[in-house]
Amino acid sequence: MDQKQINDLLTKMTLEEKISQLLQLTANLHEGTEDQSQITGPMEEMGITGEMVRASGSVLGLSGAASIIALQQDYLKKSRLGIPLLFMADVVHGFKTIFPIPLAIGCSWDLELAEKSAEIAARESAVSGIHVTFAPMVDLVRDPRWGRVMETTGEDPYLNSLFARAFVRGYQGSELAEDNERLAACVKHFAAYGAAEGGRDYNTVDMSERQLREYYLPAYKAALDEGCEMVMASFNTVDGIPASGNEKLMRGILRDEWGFEGILISDWASIREMIAHGAAEDDCEAAYRAMRAGVDIEMMTPCYVQHLPQLIESGRIDESLIDEAVLRILQLKNKLGLFENPFRGADPEREREVLFCDEHRRAAYDLAVKSSVLLKNNSVLPLQPDSSIALIGPFADHEDILGWWSCVGAKEDAVQLGTAMRERVSGNLTTASGCGFDTMTAEQLEKALEAAREADVIVLALGEESTMSGEGGSRTDITLPEVQLELVKHLKKLGKPIAAVIFNGRPLDLHGVFDEADAVLEVWFPGSEGGAAIADLLIGRANPSGRLTMSFPHSAGQIPVYYNAFNTGRPMDPSKTGERYVSKYIDSPNEPLLPFGYGLSYTCFEYGGLHISGSEMTAEQHLTASVEVTNTGTRTGIETVQLYIRDITGEVVRPLRELKGFQRLELQPGETKMVEFSISEDMLRYHHSDLRFTSDPGSFQLFIGPNSRDTLQAAFKLI
Ligand code: BGC
Repeated sequence: MDQKQINDLLTKMTLEEKISQLLQLTANLHEGTEDQSQITGPMEEMGITGEMVRASGSVLGLSGAASIIALQQDYLKKSRLGIPLLFMADVVHGFKTIFPIPLAIGCSWDLELAEKSAEIAARESAVSGIHVTFAPMVDLVRDPRWGRVMETTGEDPYLNSLFARAFVRGYQGSELAEDNERLAACVKHFAAYGAAEGGRDYNTVDMSERQLREYYLPAYKAALDEGCEMVMASFNTVDGIPASGNEKLMRGILRDEWGFEGILISDWASIREMIAHGAAEDDCEAAYRAMRAGVDIEMMTPCYVQHLPQLIESGRIDESLIDEAVLRILQLKNKLGLFENPFRGADPEREREVLFCDEHRRAAYDLAVKSSVLLKNNSVLPLQPDSSIALIGPFADHEDILGWWSCVGAKEDAVQLGTAMRERVSGNLTTASGCGFDTMTAEQLEKALEAAREADVIVLALGEESTMSGEGGSRTDITLPEVQLELVKHLKKLGKPIAAVIFNGRPLDLHGVFDEADAVLEVWFPGSEGGAAIADLLIGRANPSGRLTMSFPHSAGQIPVYYNAFNTGRPMDPSKTGERYVSKYIDSPNEPLLPFGYGLSYTCFEYGGLHISGSEMTAEQHLTASVEVTNTGTRTGIETVQLYIRDITGEVVRPLRELKGFQRLELQPGETKMVEFSISEDMLRYHHSDLRFTSDPGSFQLFIGPNSRDTLQAAFKLI
């Protein structure tokens, strides 16, 4: 349809038909729609009726080509104007083929693979009938107590923005309208959901507008610059106003300032939740605030359907606002070609062909290899081929390795670590759980000790169960569960080398395992091919190359601890530990245990010859910084060379360092490569106190190195 036809369609719609387009409900309500006149249970309590279900314009969470085709057919039979349903779902890190969790994908620093993972997820879900994914989630995070850190790529606005763009490219492709195997993307959660106080999910977010713009907004904006079709509002308040009713955020920044013309959807029930927040007296006021703020689709509560008619009648809401929202929805339906082909990519045959196919599994394997981070290694890894190995721990033979939000991925399809190790290790390999995730029996422990006594080396597969992170998975204590630390203590007494493999959804306080183990490999929730990837890393068929994108604290008491912090007026001088009146803890270092950007390899890299092409530049010029990186070890490896800049003095205080560029290099043993970064004035801009985004002339430091801590440095001036 062309724009005129869409406009005509809108004029034919009754007010009730229009408002129905603004409601989204889950699929279970739609299934068997014939009988939905009698809605019972929680839905009835929520005020949702069978009528609403039959009329609502989009569906959440259904997948499977056959079911979607059937529901669409059924719906269209009853639709007076033949407006098809939109099917949306949370395809967050894969559909049937599950990739590592997004935090892990971030640690790959591999934008191409990230894009590919989204492309594959799009293909699998589009042929299963889905049109929109509620991804990418790009919330910047500084608090690992928050369970949803697993859904984001980390603590850095620059890196998050690059990943946001890569994911959007992967989901949507370049020709969404023509390509039935891509999805429309919905960036979330706008805005600043990752800054929930205390890391407690859904909690208050409050920060200066400058802070919001400088750190939290860039990744959403980057997704939109890449053409992301939709935005989801967050659950939290921003400056005292819930995002779902926040006019300044939604109409002001998102629509007026950024020119976003796509659909804005609420989060699950977040419009009605304005009542609990204390921002609306009842459903009617909640509907009023959300519509005024510009939320187009209401997810899972009926405030719009029930109250917009009277709000229009009373003149409090202008019908033109409803028309705008409906138009956006019709436009997306049209862009996806649904008026011509309401089933779009849904194709049971293609579904059988591509879901979990070998090509997709290989990509999941590659990403699992690239996203694991070697945190420590006292020459225990890679394992010697002829050594006898005891693989111990609750993750030694466990299927819970997909992570939260694994869509239709099946745990039983996941390649488990034990299985993969047995396939690869010719020597003696025994496995024992030692304990459960948080329980231990004497028998479990005894079997583990027995296996360990016989072995040359212990591989200890520990971690968080997947339900310990994800939505609603906030923790105050982010150590490993007590029984697992007990297990470490018992095994440690045997005096054998220990390589710990940690599965988890957040940076942990690794107390009780980091010092005790000789090697630590962080594998996150590695997805469908996780076991194969980890086994190959352990035996040295693959070389770890992941780098942390979130700092690992010494303890929860240090949180928030992130690399791009300010210096304070009384910075601590580490050589003067006795000083009292400086910014420090008396019982902990200031620095995290492991900094942003950190990760080891089975080979070693040396940096030298840092050179900068000049000591001064103007806004029109640029400088080139170069460094030589040499692989001084005996294996081929990938190094991620990172560039950081510090603005020494600003109108507003500037962070100690900020990531401004990186390059991933593969180096053969003995090989040296020169890496160059171009420094230009736009990299030096920041939000001033009046929110102007400009640079200040003055002195800068530049750092290049393997992580945010261990860098070479040089200086230059912007004149
Ligand atoms: C989450 C969203 C998700 C939505 C729909 C909410 O609880 O916060 O991220 O997209 O549910 O499943």
